Order: sequence, then structure tokens, then C-alpha cells
Amino acid sequence: MSLTVRPATSADAPELAELLNAIIARGGTTALERPFTPERLDATYLTGPDVLSCVVAVDRASGRLEGFQTLIREDHLPADWGDIGTFARVDGIQRGVGSALFAATRDRARELGLAAMNAEIRADNTGGLAFYGKMGFEDYKTDRAVPLGDGTPVDRINKRYVLDAPAPSEVSRERSVGQ
Ligand SMILES: CC(C)(COP(=O)(O)OP(=O)(O)OC[C@H]1O[C@@H](n2cnc3c(N)ncnc32)[C@H](O)[C@@H]1OP(=O)(O)O)[C@@H](O)C(=O)NCCC(=O)NCCS
Repeated sequence: MSLTVRPATSADAPELAELLNAIIARGGTTALERPFTPERLDATYLTGPDVLSCVVAVDRASGRLEGFQTLIREDHLPADWGDIGTFARVDGIQRGVGSALFAATRDRARELGLAAMNAEIRADNTGGLAFYGKMGFEDYKTDRAVPLGDGTPVDRINKRYVLDAPAPSEVSRERSVGQ
């Protein structure tokens, strides 16, 4: 894998809007349904006032942005929680984009002194559910039959990652170091 992870900037907005709009157009995973202009993406997820952290994964060889992960404030969450969103290219050939991004977001969330991260995932998004489960998120709440734009009801699974608990990978690393 040859990825670099760095903070997102406003200059990334056009490429990331294209990346996210391809996921929205494909449908079936994200709850987002309206395409983003670069300006709205920047304000909402990259550098706007409610953005706690946003990182991008860059392919070292090509310089192409392979994915991004954002952590934002949401009024419906406790003040010391962030709401996470992760998006990797639909036509990506790199593996491990989401996990590389998560390592950086988790570090940043700890630096910020956050208590937990929330991931709200469509119940039919098996890949997203598996991804956050693998990162150490645990289910704690289900919002039933939240309608999509066309009225189709879809449950939303809320998973949380408590930040004072080390991640499973960190626990196993600490154990093997201590052995
Ligand atoms: C979910 C998403 C971010 C995962 O990104 P990714 O770069 O594929 O993730 P990684 O390769 O780092 O996966 C890490 C682990 O998560 C799990 N995982 C990821 N995608 C999975 C899938 N589709 N099915 C099952 N498990 C999956 C695997 O255990 C994987 O480890 P492995 O490859 O060693 O088996 C990506 O598929 C995506 O952008 N999906 C569309 C948007 C979305 O649904 N986002 C989540 C809701 S905001």
C-alpha cells in the first residue's frame, strides 16, 4: 500500500466532491442523496466551522486522492462527541484506504480530548457496518425507518467508538510488545 494521510484543505474540495458524488450516484451506501458542489463539501466536511477533523488519503505514486474521512460536530450528539463519515473511491484499486484514514482521525480525536465518535450507518450498508465494526465501533442505537428522499424507510444503525478505550489493534500490539 502506498498511501499518505494528511489533513484536508479547501484546495482538495473539487476532487473530493467528484469522489463523493460518484458514491452518491451509485447509491445504496451513504445516506447522502444530493450531489455536493466543492464549496458546500468544503464548508460541511473539510474546513467549515463544525469540522473537528478531516483527513485525506493520497496515492503516493499518482497524487490522486483515494478517500477522505471527516469528523464533525452535530447538535444531536453530546458536545464532546464527533460524528464520523468515511468515503473511499468507488473505482479505487488501493486497499486499506478507510483504515489508514481512521488511524489518523482517532489520533486527532484524542488530541482534541473528545470522549467518543459516532457513526450513523444505513442498515442496508453491509460494507460500512463491517468497516466500522472492524475499526472497533460498537452498536448502541437504531433509528427505525428513517425515510430516504423518495420516502423509502431505512433503519439507521448508530455505532460508537469510546476514545479512552484503546483500539483492539492497539491492545494486541501492546500485548505483543509486553510479552
Ligand atoms: C466503507 C468504506 C469507507 C471502507 O473503505 P475501505 O478503504 O474499503 O476500507 P479498508 O480497506 O481499510 O477496510 C478495513 C476493513 O474493514 C472491513 N471492510 C471494509 N469494507 C468492507 C466490505 N465492503 N465488506 C466487508 N468488510 C469490509 C474489512 O474487515 C477490512 O479489512 P480487510 O480488508 O483486511 O478484510 C468504503 O467502502 C466506502 O467508501 N464506502 C462507501 C461510503 C460508505 O458507505 N461509507 C460509510 C458510511 S459513512
